[in-house]
Amino acid sequence: AKDDGFIELIAGPMKQKLHPSSPVRSDLWTYNNMTPGPEIRVSQGARVRVRLTNNLEEPTTVHWHGIRIDNRMDGVAGLTQDAVPPGETFDYEFVAPDAGTYWYHAHNKSWNQVARGLYGPLIVEEAEPTYDRDHDLTLVIDDWRLNSDGALDLSSLGSLMDWSHGGRLGNWMTVNGESLPTFDLRAGESYRLRLINASNSRVLELDPVKLGARVLAYDGQPLPAPTLLDYSPFLLGPAQRVDLLVVPDEDFALEEVSGDEPFAFAAFSVSVGAAEPEPVPTLPLNAIPEPDLSKAVTVRLNMTGGAMGGFTDIVYQGKKIEGEDFRRTRQVWAFNGVANLAEEPLFRASRGETIVLETVNDTGWVHAMHLHGHHFRVTERSGATVDEEQPWRDTFLIGPQQTTKIAFVADNPGMWLLHCHMLEHAAAGMNTWFEVG
Ligand code: C2O
Ligand code: CU
Ligand code: CU
Repeated sequence: AKDDGFIELIAGPMKQKLHPSSPVRSDLWTYNNMTPGPEIRVSQGARVRVRLTNNLEEPTTVHWHGIRIDNRMDGVAGLTQDAVPPGETFDYEFVAPDAGTYWYHAHNKSWNQVARGLYGPLIVEEAEPTYDRDHDLTLVIDDWRLNSDGALDLSSLGSLMDWSHGGRLGNWMTVNGESLPTFDLRAGESYRLRLINASNSRVLELDPVKLGARVLAYDGQPLPAPTLLDYSPFLLGPAQRVDLLVVPDEDFALEEVSGDEPFAFAAFSVSVGAAEPEPVPTLPLNAIPEPDLSKAVTVRLNMTGGAMGGFTDIVYQGKKIEGEDFRRTRQVWAFNGVANLAEEPLFRASRGETIVLETVNDTGWVHAMHLHGHHFRVTERSGATVDEEQPWRDTFLIGPQQTTKIAFVADNPGMWLLHCHMLEHAAAGMNTWFEVG
């Protein structure tokens, strides 16, 4: 932080090697010349001030993903603010009411800006941090698409193929911008690993059983007690976070297990530590208003489109439009038959009302649905059981032809996005908004 209390975030171009055995440097866009951007660590309830300077050649914004934030600070270009033009600054100022693992990222043409590196971790510490800094590790995971020369593939950015199928999937993973980094841990000690999936569209498949890991928190929100994960694979969708508790006894690795061959993307080297395992700290819960299902208003959201949907020109405010931001794109996907931000919200809620959102995925693809400004519980899921705890989340995965119900209290006034966090899907139609009065 600087003297005036502002954390500086400077968005700009940067050249960086992504593949360790290639000398080629990629054309990235980053915050403060690093990818991911700097870890912003603040205390719960503290006033956060961030000054964004835009040194890119196109407008940008910053969104504070998962924070129950003042609507004007939510950073959604075209909905909550005008994007910040090149050469200008914007001051974000907010209070983060909930401790946990969050992240920040560009929210204008996110499919492009996030793919190029405009994101970073946002950690809100408990008033009394439960894990000290040596036992609290942030792992920002990204999935890049590299050319055969090892440079970021820019030519396929925005391709119809990605937009109409499963999104932009990469072929090279990094953690905190590095390829297969090693973390040094001590045996018998408790570690909090904060995993953030910053991929555009990759659903990570992990094997927590092998690790004996327990879940401390999903999407920043602690569970009442650390819970052993006893199934595999464990899915971490784009934008989702999980805080894992590990008490290592020997070297281990985090692996992506979706392909034929699992591969490691983070290694942990474990040295002799405590003789006796230490007691496992439990995180304090955040105070999020509990949905009252007996008084809920149900809103249906039907998701359609995909490879078969075809591209249709969108007419907005009487004009046929082209381009790539939220209100100006061609349609591949739709919510209730409408692509992108209609002039009318999906629904209006009065403040404090419980909303049950019944999402029906009428597509052949998995989606990662994200709600801005609120946390919800998944209360029902067709063809699958829901976690007994119904943990708070801000992003949920929904499988092909699945129906999922989420419930939340619409208590944060303003205009909020609801979109697929597979950023190509969002760009190609999977966006809507709701208003809390
Ligand atoms: Cu992580 Cu609408 O964003
Ligand atoms: Cu968000
Ligand atoms: Cu999607």
